[in-house]
Amino acid sequence: MQKFIINGGRRLRGELALQGSKNSSLPIMAAALLCRGECTLHSCPRLTDVYAASRILNCVGCRCSFSDNTAVINAETVDRTQVSEELMREMRSSIIFMGAMLGRAGECVVSVPGGCELGPRPIDMHLAALRKMSVEIRESGGSIICRAVCGRAKGAKISLAFPSVGATENIILCAATAEGETVINNAAREPEICDLCGFLRACGADIKGDGESRIIIRGKQQLHGCEYTIMPDRIVGATYLSMVAAAKGELILTNACVQEMEPFLSVLEQTGCSVYTSENRIYLRSGTRLRAVKERIRTMPHPGFPTDAQAVLMAALSLADGTSIFEENIFDCRYRHTDALVKMGADIEVLGKVAVVKGVSSLCGANVAATDLRGGAAMVIAGLCAEGTSVITRICHIDRGYENMEEAVRLLGGDMRRV
Ligand code: UD1
Repeated sequence: MQKFIINGGRRLRGELALQGSKNSSLPIMAAALLCRGECTLHSCPRLTDVYAASRILNCVGCRCSFSDNTAVINAETVDRTQVSEELMREMRSSIIFMGAMLGRAGECVVSVPGGCELGPRPIDMHLAALRKMSVEIRESGGSIICRAVCGRAKGAKISLAFPSVGATENIILCAATAEGETVINNAAREPEICDLCGFLRACGADIKGDGESRIIIRGKQQLHGCEYTIMPDRIVGATYLSMVAAAKGELILTNACVQEMEPFLSVLEQTGCSVYTSENRIYLRSGTRLRAVKERIRTMPHPGFPTDAQAVLMAALSLADGTSIFEENIFDCRYRHTDALVKMGADIEVLGKVAVVKGVSSLCGANVAATDLRGGAAMVIAGLCAEGTSVITRICHIDRGYENMEEAVRLLGGDMRRV
């Protein structure tokens, strides 16, 4: 099992180009299933989750190839509708293949996603919505067996109780080639939803309203292939900005989605670092100790503060002057990284969905294990700012979402190795 060894205390300084978004790549790869013809995806990040998605595509008969950051997917040859349990379990987001397979073939057999690092991950909203679209769904021995009653799903009016990202994506994927019109009320407004819809439109789909809470999809018989560039990863952006802010450094982030990162940037600015943005660049300078954030940092659906950036900002604020308060409103178990940060000297108290972070003047290196993707990234940030050496194990979590993190850190002047 690989691990990261970090010698902390170096000032970080330099320029990084943001990788493509993981949370866009996965639904877009699933969407390629709907297309007759080849899809070429640029800026596709080389991540274990992306490779897991390509194995699912292979399993149903697609041809996928990667060259650097370009993925080519040909779904002409799809001839199966069942995804093995083993592949489904490799990645929780594999559930988005359900909507895509239904859109492509009118049927599929997938398996119930288990709980994950963030706690139970129910899919009740996904299933209820697809049922409304005339899809019969049976659960049997861990398998979910889905079949469109008339061979093709039917458009429907769907109101989500909560703007779930995954449920919105599954509905869009199923609706793009369903019969008639689908309306999603209280849809998720995350930028990755807009990216998925942008891709589908490039393939000939008729979708309006993405980025707003009502999305309207008019189903097309068939979609065609296209060439598309995946949006930059706003959470990876938030991670490197938090890292450099905490390490009192300087960063130029290029290929950045500035507007989409606004909910994060507006909080980061309150820590006292200088942040300047231009069209697709973010410049950050952090000379002195960060200030605690006065307002409570509440994670909310977009355009609220992103839950995925909670852990990385917490690592930075654990060294700030004063007390910051986080409120996690999206996932029940999203504070699992705090034990490791406390082991490294942070003063964090978790009370239900609230975490109280009292800034300390220094952290110390420690041996810790990544608990989940963003929690693992938070530990890297703490390690880079700590005095002494940190060893981070279970870095497979980190590799799910960060392309070569150690290389990026080294480029900035940090001392971090993978062994
Ligand atoms: C996606 C992102 C994840 C991000 C999250 C919230 C991907 C691959 N993952 O996850 O990084 O943290 O959005 O921005 O894009 N829920 C239900 N029933 C359902 C569906 C969801 O109760 O049927 C609950 C979940 O348990 C969770 C909340 O709704 O508490 C939000 O989940 P959702 O927006 O669906 O997140 P994901 O799509 O899983």
